[in-house]
Amino acid sequence: MPPARLPMFCWWGMMTDKPTSAPANIRKQYAQLVAIIRQADAAYYQHDHPTMTDAEYDGLRQRLLALEADHPDLVRPDSPSQTVGAKPAAAFSPVQHGVPMLSLDNAFDEQDVEEFLAKVRRFLGLDPEAVVACVTEPKIDGLSASLRYRQGQLVQAATRGDGRTGEDITANVRTITDIPQTLAGEDWPDEIEIRGEIYMGHDDFATLNARAEAEGGKVFANPRNAAAGSVRQLDPKITAQRPLRFFAYSWGEVSGAFADTQLDAIAQLASWGHAVNPRHQLCEYKASLINAYQNILKHRADLGYDIDGLVIKVNSLDWQRRLGHVGRSPRWAVAWKFPAEQAQTRVLDIDIQVGRTGALTPVARLQPITVGGVVVSNATLHNADEIERKDVRIGDQVVIQRAGDVIPQVVSVVMAERPADAVPYGFPQQCPCDLKTPVVREQTAGGTEGAVRRCSGEMRCPFQRLEHLKHFASRRAFDIEGLGAKQLELFFENDWVKEPADIFTLEARNRDLKIETREGFGVQSVRNVFDAIAARKTIDLDRFVYALGARHVGDGTARLLARTYQSWDNLYKALLEMSNASPEAPSEAETEMLSIDQIGQTVVDSLKGYFASASSRAAVERLCEQVSIQDAEAIDTASPVAGKTVVFTGKLEQLSRDEAKAMAERLGAKVSGSVSKKTDLLVAGPGAGSKLKTAASLGIETIDEDGWLALVQQAG
Ligand code: IVH
Repeated sequence: MPPARLPMFCWWGMMTDKPTSAPANIRKQYAQLVAIIRQADAAYYQHDHPTMTDAEYDGLRQRLLALEADHPDLVRPDSPSQTVGAKPAAAFSPVQHGVPMLSLDNAFDEQDVEEFLAKVRRFLGLDPEAVVACVTEPKIDGLSASLRYRQGQLVQAATRGDGRTGEDITANVRTITDIPQTLAGEDWPDEIEIRGEIYMGHDDFATLNARAEAEGGKVFANPRNAAAGSVRQLDPKITAQRPLRFFAYSWGEVSGAFADTQLDAIAQLASWGHAVNPRHQLCEYKASLINAYQNILKHRADLGYDIDGLVIKVNSLDWQRRLGHVGRSPRWAVAWKFPAEQAQTRVLDIDIQVGRTGALTPVARLQPITVGGVVVSNATLHNADEIERKDVRIGDQVVIQRAGDVIPQVVSVVMAERPADAVPYGFPQQCPCDLKTPVVREQTAGGTEGAVRRCSGEMRCPFQRLEHLKHFASRRAFDIEGLGAKQLELFFENDWVKEPADIFTLEARNRDLKIETREGFGVQSVRNVFDAIAARKTIDLDRFVYALGARHVGDGTARLLARTYQSWDNLYKALLEMSNASPEAPSEAETEMLSIDQIGQTVVDSLKGYFASASSRAAVERLCEQVSIQDAEAIDTASPVAGKTVVFTGKLEQLSRDEAKAMAERLGAKVSGSVSKKTDLLVAGPGAGSKLKTAASLGIETIDEDGWLALVQQAG
């Protein structure tokens, strides 16, 4: 199934005229087509700004290919049909955020909001009816930025990037008039990362587009794209001409406390000369939250800028600090998203995509349609059961919906408009790859049949291999710039890269391959890819583990494993021991891994399966020869529990169990659910039973909740 855009991207070379026998009108048509496609490619790949629908684009390429088939001597080496490789976006330098930039969990209805509040109360050990004062703010639909001020002077600005590392956009940000170069007043901390959203207002967006249209320039699809495109200009002079705005709403690293509540903090940001959103408000009760939501929804169209929901933040900063975050989302805030936008269009086809883990996902190819400012031409149908339940057929008119950045979905079929000849969709029984491996229906843990159909080919299946490679190079894994989906598809198809280790040997092999001499490649572009690969030869343990792509091992789990085992040697030893043990007698390594808080049998079984396969192990070992894996970050040795394994048991009276665990983790301890000889400390509250006894018999240090709090206090 061809992706909507073929694995094709351009190294922009100068077109040279070539003698041809084709008649003049054909030559003219050909030159026009080439020019249009190249423009569309530049818009799509370089400026994140498609100027035509996927269907129109595909149509143009079909015409180009047909012309070239009829007149082979027309084909020039720099024709879009021959070119490969995206011109890498010339880099902005990386910036390490002082404190990670988090993203928000979503709530979609009142019940989700209720659940958010209940979790906050549980974590803080509050009464189920306790008031949790919150501040609500509109969720601005722009792009977040972190601005570092030192002694009140703006010294650096960065994009969010992957949350840990962003891109340096200082020069561009200096052109945004809402953003002060120097903070007003004097009571700012010596060093502070002020965070907020860069956006473009509706009027400014309309004017910008009208001007662009009149001048034959680039027209943006929506204000968010316009803002993002403007910030990512390499020439700050261009950014300066773009009407960008900024709202400050949060902060990262700070050298000293500057407020006690979210409300005070907003007032402080404003007093330092930052624009803050005037529509923020304090809400003490759920009814006021609902009111705030309905109110903002009602006024959405009059605000003058795009918003996509309401952000709810716990007002007390002390509570925010205690709540901390889980994975990439704070426990103290949630985004209550606006209802999804819906539209109707036609299903042109249903394709099957095979994912990294072999799951077959049906995708509806749609007549392109604009939903909330974005052109949608594909929507997920999730799985075979969903297609059957909704009875989606090729040719059907369907209702689709798009909520924020979630993949568009097919909601329902408009039965009244079903074509007479539409037939039920037959879900394939074989993988669409050349091996035609049988598809198996997943069994859930309870033994019942799950909804997912999987290709049973594992690493033999070329789709799964390719998806593994994409995952490997992706942002949260090895993060190799310039080695995106398109490039990997191409390298894979040419057999240049078949497994991760090959990525790192590519440069050496290129002496023979000479990729730069292939049609469409250039010396510089190939150099850039090799440099990007070389830059990632040293990799953090957590990224390495995540990059391996075992099922159920997401980046959060990978971080837990890295923190627990510290080095790849330790972890690999445990993995081998687990995988080699007989199924009847789980190894000690397995018991130990299972004792890590938040790691359950599903993760352990997946890892065992992965490392039980000799070919996976061999591939990992080949990879290890190529890269250098950094041990997990040295633990804060100032903390008395750093690196220790702590178990909590019995009732805690001042802290909820969740908060106690989160505290221990912040201090560099590992939290385990069971006592063993590896346990360093047992924190036992009233009612503790067998764990207390086991700890006593093993001579493990045991303290009560007060003892724990004193210990934590000592750590500061
Ligand atoms: S607070 C730790 N407040 O929404 C929480 N975010 O998925 C940090 N956003 O990346 C975010 N308006 O780009 C916050 N008033 C607001 C916001 C807001 C928009 C964006 C921001 C963030 C994303 C969260």
